[in-house]
Amino acid sequence: MKATRKPVPARTAPSRELAKLRARLAAADETIRAIRNGEVDTVLGVGKKGPQVFTLAGAEHAYRVLIESMNEGALTLTADKTILYANHSFACMVRCPLEQVTGSSFRRFLSFANRASLKSRMKQAADTGSKLQVHLIAKDGSRLPVQISIQKMAKVGSAHVTISMVVTDMTESRRNEAQLRALAQRVVQVQEAERGRVALELHDNVTQSLCAALFISQALAAGLSARDGPVKKEAEELRRVIGQTAGEVERISRNLRPSVLDQLGLAAALRATGEEFTERTGVPLTLVCLPLTARLTPDTKLALYRIFQDALRNVEMHARARHVTVSLKPQDGFVEMVISDDGLGFDASRHTDRTKGPVGLGLLGMLERAAYVGGTLVIKSERGTSTEITVSVPL
Ligand SMILES: Nc1ncnc2c1ncn2[C@@H]1O[C@H](COP(=O)(O)OP(=O)(O)O)[C@@H](O)[C@H]1O
Ligand SMILES: [Mg+2]
Repeated sequence: MKATRKPVPARTAPSRELAKLRARLAAADETIRAIRNGEVDTVLGVGKKGPQVFTLAGAEHAYRVLIESMNEGALTLTADKTILYANHSFACMVRCPLEQVTGSSFRRFLSFANRASLKSRMKQAADTGSKLQVHLIAKDGSRLPVQISIQKMAKVGSAHVTISMVVTDMTESRRNEAQLRALAQRVVQVQEAERGRVALELHDNVTQSLCAALFISQALAAGLSARDGPVKKEAEELRRVIGQTAGEVERISRNLRPSVLDQLGLAAALRATGEEFTERTGVPLTLVCLPLTARLTPDTKLALYRIFQDALRNVEMHARARHVTVSLKPQDGFVEMVISDDGLGFDASRHTDRTKGPVGLGLLGMLERAAYVGGTLVIKSERGTSTEITVSVPL
């Protein structure tokens, strides 16, 4: 009997082909995974045209990781504001799944008013490098205050422009600003109360005592005759000095708590202080007060008066002005006070912008006082030219 061995089935050509294809597929899968993870930045391919090198922008991966891990929102938009790319943080800000953010219009996440002005404001921000302040409207309707930095990017040799944005959540910063403002206002209130207390003390005690001393010195000088020679002269000098001191204390007390403000109103207080300023400094001051269409609240009167005082103090200390002009008039539902001098001028932004270094407490105090009564204060000044301070407070 002839034993026959069963032939081992030789690998057929199709199954060899299948195994090869499976291996290539696995290799391709592995390559794609490595590219996704940023483990690869160059791919060598062999095709009909021979070997080819494909360079992946390897550095981009590091940026992508950075952008995905940062707290700020990052976006890339087309010129018509369609979102090409958004990071995870932006999706969280607008409380919308990332896949619904990508491909939708950026306008969708803005309020109606912001949508209307978006184009012009974005252009201005991109051209000047300034930042855009808007509220994002999240998918659930909640509002988020944000600051947006914008950068236009044009591809070399292409007419297409894309816009990149970094969106910063300003909730915390707004809260801090509000707290700071409340604190500044509290300081103003406490300062006023303290000034009032000191003024009263000065008036009730020091001025009274000085007046008594003045009468005594007057009687003393009157009681002495010319024969007393230098003693009479000294008594007269004593009376003069006491009189001058009483006047000075009264002036300080009046400035601390201007009762004329309550009794005779703002215009009279400005006039009295202006006259005193000219008397002391020799700088003429022209004051024009037009009748106001509504009564000012005590807070507004006091704010305008304190700003006027501080502005005059600055003119006296820094301006070397030859003339000061002050006007107080109604203007479109506001009361407007303008204080201008023809002195040395200065760089106002340097003294009022905290980011540019130490700020002037006097100027900041003036800005705060205007803000406290819902108004605005604008300082227009340049070195070597005049200075003009305009305060507007709603009537
Ligand atoms: N009217 C003015 N003319 C010229 N310079 C001024 C005037 N007002 C303010 N300045 C300048 O602004 C600076 C800041 O003013 P301010 O905040 O009042 O602080 P301070 O008077 O204590 O120096 C002053 O030091 C001065 O250099
Ligand atoms: Mg000052």
